[in-house]
Formats: sequence, structure tokens, C-alpha cells
Amino acid sequence: MEIIIQPTAEAATEIAARIIAKLLREKPDAVLGLATGSTPLRLYQKLADMKLDWSRATTFNLDEYTGLPREHPQSYHSFMWENLFRHINIRPENIHIPDGNAADIPAMCADYEKAIRDAGGIDLQLLGIGSDGHIGFNEPSSSLASRTRIKTLTGRTRSDNARFFGSPENVPLHVVTMGIGTIMEARTNLMLAFGENKAAAIAGTVEGPVTADNPASVLQFHPSAKVCLDEPAASQLKRADYYRWVYDNKPDWQSW
Ligand code: GLP
Repeated sequence: MEIIIQPTAEAATEIAARIIAKLLREKPDAVLGLATGSTPLRLYQKLADMKLDWSRATTFNLDEYTGLPREHPQSYHSFMWENLFRHINIRPENIHIPDGNAADIPAMCADYEKAIRDAGGIDLQLLGIGSDGHIGFNEPSSSLASRTRIKTLTGRTRSDNARFFGSPENVPLHVVTMGIGTIMEARTNLMLAFGENKAAAIAGTVEGPVTADNPASVLQFHPSAKVCLDEPAASQLKRADYYRWVYDNKPDWQSW
């Protein structure tokens, strides 16, 4: 794993933006996996400001709530259109977000997996992390080999996301999410985490044992996982000095 610690979320986001911009310039028909939540908001703003060419790019979002109308302001469809898609020149037909209102959820999930395969797989998957270590909506105890499917949110995640819905009871109980196996097939995984409430989950992800108790820890098995952190999110890492040293001494050919 490459651990990139920056003084601020702004600086860490800048690096993530450069990584994505480089991919889009080198591979204009790249397939990007996208994430929601407050963490990538700054990144989406930056990517929009960079005026990159998305005309040949394809995107797949990680997850969606079930039972929320697409037009609901907290649906991930609304989130993505509001915060990224309406600001870039992506073709609507190249955008994929799981349909949380599908009549047949397992069939929709199988079709989603097939669409990812048919697109040639995901080149770069953007990830946030839940305070319990979830990626996408793969809560602790998720199978590390799981595929896109329905999941039930934990009380903790519903509380964390209550700020968007007014109260935890208003947060949908069920979601559809790419599985951990799906995420692990992306050629690169790029995780962003900011703030002290992510510090324990990040310490477990980077330095803890690989365990379904902290689903993000599976990234230790990924051949190309980058983790961009601000100082508070990095504050429980035992080897933080080493990660800074590595980053500061990267060979030129490895920098973005
Ligand atoms: C939700 C999303 C995740 C996201 C997480 C953290 O649960 N499904 O993809 O990483 O929230 O959200 P935030 O970035 O708001 O802390």
C-alpha cells in the first residue's frame, strides 16, 4: 500500500485529483469507480474545475440506497449528478449507478457485475471509508470475496449518515453495494480519508490484521492501493514517519 499523508484534506485531495487526471489523460476511455459521502466532495469540485475530457470515460458507482426515489436529494444518483456529472462532459449512457429501486435486486446486481466486466473492468476505484472500516457499503463481517448485492446497514453507519437525513431512523436500512471481491478487481484502488473519526479505521486498514471486522483491511492484499490522508486521519498510524519518508523520497518517475 502507498500511504500518502498530507497536512490538510485539501492537499491530500490535490494529489488524488492529479492521479485521476493523469489516468484520464493517458487513457481517455478509462473506467472509473466512484464513491459518495462527504470525503470526495472537494475532489469532484477540483476535477470539474480541471476541465478534463470525460467524453470517452465510463463510470461505475460503488453503491446506492434501496427504496429512495432517484430524485430524492440524498440518493446517490442525485449526489453524483449534483456534485460531478452535471459539471463534466461525460456521456449519460456511460454512467452506471446501482438501481436501488429495481424490482429484482439480485438480477440488477448480476447485471451490474456484467456491465463492469463488459466495460473491461475498473481501472481506478475511488474509495472513502466508514468509521467502522466499511468500503462501499460493505459493513464489518462482509465476505471478503463478496460481489454486488444487497446489504443491511449497521446502527453505527445509520447514525454516521443521519446528518444527511435528519435522524438515523430516516436512513434507509438496506443498500446495494459492489462487493469487496468486486472492489478488489479494480486495477488501482485510491482511498481518501480525512478527520480524526477515521483514524482508528485507517490504522486497522493499513497496519491491522486483514479481517472482515475492518473490511478496508483487505486492501493489504491489493497490488495497487493508494491511501491519501490528512494528519488527523493518519494520527493512529504507528509507522507514519516511514510513510512520510517514502513519499518524500519517491523517485521522479513515480511522482504524479
Ligand atoms: C457511506 C458510503 C461510503 C463512504 C462512507 C463515508 O457509507 N457508502 O462509500 O466512504 O459513507 O462517508 P463520509 O465520506 O461522508 O465520511
